[in-house]
Amino acid sequence: MVSTAIGMSIDRAVQLLRAGEIIGMPTETVYGLAGNGLAPTVVAKIYAAKNRPSFDPMILHAYSKEAILSFVKDIPDPLLPLVEKFMPGPLTILLEKKDIVPDVLTAGLPKVAVRIPSHKLARELLKHLDFPLAAPSANPFGYISPTTALHVKDQLEGIIPYILDGGSCEKGLESTIIEYEDNKIVVLRKGSVSIEDIESVVGKVDVRSHSSSNPKAPGMIKSHYAPRIATTLNSIHHTRKSYKLNRIGYLGWNKMSVQLDKNNQRVLSFAGDLNEAARNLFRYLRELDALDLDIIILKKVPNLGLGRAINDKLNRAAAKD
Ligand code: TXA
Ligand code: MG
Repeated sequence: MVSTAIGMSIDRAVQLLRAGEIIGMPTETVYGLAGNGLAPTVVAKIYAAKNRPSFDPMILHAYSKEAILSFVKDIPDPLLPLVEKFMPGPLTILLEKKDIVPDVLTAGLPKVAVRIPSHKLARELLKHLDFPLAAPSANPFGYISPTTALHVKDQLEGIIPYILDGGSCEKGLESTIIEYEDNKIVVLRKGSVSIEDIESVVGKVDVRSHSSSNPKAPGMIKSHYAPRIATTLNSIHHTRKSYKLNRIGYLGWNKMSVQLDKNNQRVLSFAGDLNEAARNLFRYLRELDALDLDIIILKKVPNLGLGRAINDKLNRAAAKD
């Protein structure tokens, strides 16, 4: 394959996708690795490019609610207020699929995950296509999700022909995934729509915690989002017993540590703003991961609103298996 181009041409992106290629696509959450979601060979290509196990299903991205209804059986009534409020937006819902959705996309599951991105270029792209786009986050399996076109290029150079450049992702965290089952709305993945935001529309919901043994959410294995360098949730006081101070990196919430080298630190939001923290999280993890360090300390953020999703990612980044 030739080298991977970055550009803003919708025409080029449309042409490639129609020809069965896979490309990098911006969304408001993170960049996706997109291809025709109704073509099994294209979906297989995405699994291969990401090194993703075939038991881990993908999200279908569509332009509109009408488009979604062409490949799912129906949208349960209790979900409609959430569809109205957050679609387009960073909410993904699981719905009973129709037969045109290939089994390889859902890893054989009867439900398909669907979302309507709100990013301007993603919308323009989808508007030009007569098929939905399968798009997992555009990172190799188990690594940090990309929030710029360059992040995608860093990891998929030579593997895909094109990355549609939509700038830095506005949200920075993946979509929130929900489903309706046993007459209840359940949050399966914490993401860019906070649980509080969902509950303000539909009242109390269930939140399921994930592990690799949870068949409902095969992708939510614990070590997701893990950087290359070891990470810990332990304190500096504890970590310095085993590591030299100048070999310790630090991802802070709203302030630096005075004990560590400034160059080895990133602060999610000096203003203590969780939206800003979410936007910076994956970028800073990548930046720290590129430094010559032995361990990175991750500081938890306040556990409310988007903070719950951020802390969930930090827990997974620091998980040992
Ligand atoms: O924000 C996002 O959701 C981004 C952008 C690109 O849209 N996409 C994304 O996709 O995060 P991915 O593949 O990295 O994560 C999707 C998660 C996976 O953990 C997968 O296991 C779960 O959704 N999933 C997809 N379909 C499912 C299904 N039918 N049942 C249960 N879980 C499903
Ligand atoms: Mg992912």
